[in-house]
Amino acid sequence: MRSVLVTGGAGFIGSNFIRHVLCEETIDRLVNLDALTYAGNLENLADCADDSRYCFVHGNICDRELVEKLFVEYAFDTVVNFAAESHVDRSITSPEIAFTTNALGTQTLLEAAKRFWKVDPSNKFSRDYREGVRFLQVSTDEVYGALGSTGTFRETTPLSPNSPYSASKAAADLMVGAYHRTFGFPANITRCSNNYGPYQFPEKLIPLLICNAQNNKPLPVYGDGLQVRDWIHVQDHCRAICAVLKNGQPGEVYNIGGDNGERTNLEIVHLILRKLGKPESLIIHIKDRPGHDRRYAIDHTKITRELHWKPQISFEEGIYRTIQWYMENSAWVERIMMGDYQIYCAEMYGSEIV
Ligand code: NAD
Ligand code: DAU
Repeated sequence: MRSVLVTGGAGFIGSNFIRHVLCEETIDRLVNLDALTYAGNLENLADCADDSRYCFVHGNICDRELVEKLFVEYAFDTVVNFAAESHVDRSITSPEIAFTTNALGTQTLLEAAKRFWKVDPSNKFSRDYREGVRFLQVSTDEVYGALGSTGTFRETTPLSPNSPYSASKAAADLMVGAYHRTFGFPANITRCSNNYGPYQFPEKLIPLLICNAQNNKPLPVYGDGLQVRDWIHVQDHCRAICAVLKNGQPGEVYNIGGDNGERTNLEIVHLILRKLGKPESLIIHIKDRPGHDRRYAIDHTKITRELHWKPQISFEEGIYRTIQWYMENSAWVERIMMGDYQIYCAEMYGSEIV
């Protein structure tokens, strides 16, 4: 990869990925196309802004004209699509926004890349693409739906999404698959489990717990809190994406998981309270998320066997580092808290948590 388009790079995983690529990979150009929604924050990339290989473009992945203009200007050979409405709770409030960005936005990117990468774009039957081009769709384990008390998600598990968020991500995955099979388009899909780490917007579970506990605010637990997630440190996810970009077989899907054992949300809450020395009386159980998936567990045998990737950061080490990061970056958190975040929390949880 020489000229890379990263979409949604001002968000949590995208910003960690850009930093990782600029430090670890040989590239000439990296363009970050981001609409700067509530979740996009250029502060996340302040240390990369002066890198001559890096360029930020404020725009929407649904804007076909803009996307095509960028392809002409930068001759991308690689696209990594992180841009999304990534929060399940917000997708329940506003399904249309999630569908527009996650499904239609992905299709806009696919179409532009197909057009610019085809050796003969005027021939609709041609399946020849420029040497070395690759589109990577960053998807999620949520497209598989929910597991019972046993079993794991494999790449062959049928898609069965339950929330507007996961349904819109599944729609995008199906379109990526269709572009590969119909047009021979060189794409991969990665499906990763729950990420945590630096720069995660504090409405997602782990940063929300850390920030609230630090400020002696209540920790909201949906329902009984016995839902299970497969946590992975964001840096392990970024390394996995690079492994797929380098050696993934075109058209293949790769699951990415954290190997961190099964942990309920309540176990995570107790662990963070213990690490911060805060009382359990801060925990409050609130009404459950509608359609809440009970359990996720990823089988990542395929990427480990074929691409020699496996997670390197244990949950104990990762959560310690993450808590440290939020403690050392309280100004970053405070600037977010000063914005619309308060309004979101009041609407989501009621005034007791704000
Ligand atoms: P995030 O919400 O932190 O960031 C999303 C970014 O996309 C923001 O910078 C936002 O401004 C940008 N964006 C939103 N709509 C856009 C649009 N229409 N055009 C351009 N930019 C737009 O999300 P995240 O947690 O970093 O997730 C990134 C990707 O990884 C998403 O596709 C998500 O589905 C996937 N994913 C996330 C997780 C997780 O645990 N967070 C796990 C697996 C997969
Ligand atoms: O599995 C991958 C997915 O992980 C990604 O595709 C999504 O983009 C990402 O947001 C994440 O989705 P979740 O819904 O699992 O993450 P969230 O942090 O919102 O919630 C994690 C668990 O914690 C979930 O069971 C809901 C619960 N929860 C969450 C919040 C915000 C609570 O109990 N209380 C809360 O206040």
